Amino acid sequence: MTDNLQILLERNEKISFSEYMNSILFNKDTGLYESEELFGEKGHFVTSPLISKHFANCIGKHFIKLSSLENIIEVGAGNGKLATDLLIYLRSQNKLPKQYYILEKSEKLIDKQKSLIKDNSLEKYIEIHWINDYKELPDNAFIISNELFDCFPTDIIKYANNKYKKAFINYEYKIVWEDFSFDSEYIKRHLGLPKHLPNNYIFEYSTHQSNFIDDISKVIKKAYFLIFDYGYPANELFLADRMQGTITCIKNHRADFNPLVDIGLKDISAFVNYTFLKNIFEKNRWITEAFMSQSNYLLSFDVLEDVDIDNLDDINSVKKLIMPNHMGEIFKALVVRKNISETNESLFIKNDIIKL
Ligand SMILES: C[S@@+](CC[C@H](N)C(=O)[O-])C[C@H]1O[C@@H](n2cnc3c(N)ncnc32)[C@H](O)[C@@H]1O
Repeated sequence: MTDNLQILLERNEKISFSEYMNSILFNKDTGLYESEELFGEKGHFVTSPLISKHFANCIGKHFIKLSSLENIIEVGAGNGKLATDLLIYLRSQNKLPKQYYILEKSEKLIDKQKSLIKDNSLEKYIEIHWINDYKELPDNAFIISNELFDCFPTDIIKYANNKYKKAFINYEYKIVWEDFSFDSEYIKRHLGLPKHLPNNYIFEYSTHQSNFIDDISKVIKKAYFLIFDYGYPANELFLADRMQGTITCIKNHRADFNPLVDIGLKDISAFVNYTFLKNIFEKNRWITEAFMSQSNYLLSFDVLEDVDIDNLDDINSVKKLIMPNHMGEIFKALVVRKNISETNESLFIKNDIIKL
């Protein structure tokens, strides 16, 4: 349990689940994202860019095919692996962007990103900017995020006896439910909530996600935004057998579903509701271009042709990215565009946009 959380609770008596999650993950002193080892074997979890450079290479091929965008923005760059592999690939193809921007919240991770970029001498070839304010972003860019939206603090809502209730954490680290009403009927539509939810059904609602999309949309004029995360469209998310919501904790590569034990020692995330993201982007005048599994995204950019078939590690790592029982199906890619016309040629082998 973290001291800052204790202070927050003593001061406030109870805090919303999103405040609780925010403190555990992002507190400047004690947050998990400011800790020494978060990613990789010694940390808590592994992400697609850490598994294989082919993940970044496919994104590189996508960027090259679009050709009309000058800059790349990566939001939430982790330990810098995606940025590094992507820039190495684009340099090898003589297609570096004009500038690479990293919008990152964690100071510890900014240090790690800078040192990995330096180890690969990439700053000799391209200007890389670290920013923490949306207003400093360029208005024209190819934007990428991997596992960003699943770590945005979220609230937990319960539908009980025809009413909504919101979860708060009290000073005994117990959940208390308080009456809640959505600010507007639109939000329920944006979430894609079914007309009839079972009694006591629990789900997540993150204003951090929608505020982020609203904020970035104020600055960005012309862009593609490519989002990877684990999650589902609303009609596959709000299933009756998912009554307890989707909050997932992970510690030393082991998952559990109780965020109220081992407080501060494990990661907390939630499944991304892709229908919600799509609706919030569209509200901000983005056009949804494509939605598909991570596997179909990578296969669209010929990931298999790049595998070194004499290298078992290379084969196994790409298998992890694309196999349905690993990260291939549960992880999805969403592509939205703003002020860019539709590409004539379809870039994707399958587009499940209809599911959103
Ligand atoms: C789960 S990690 C994924 C890191 C990396 N993209 C990867 O796939 O390895 C989430 C990343 O998003 C960053 N992050 C979280 N919230 C953010 C925000 N509001 N703005 C910018 N970065 C954020 C975290 O610090 C971290 O770098």
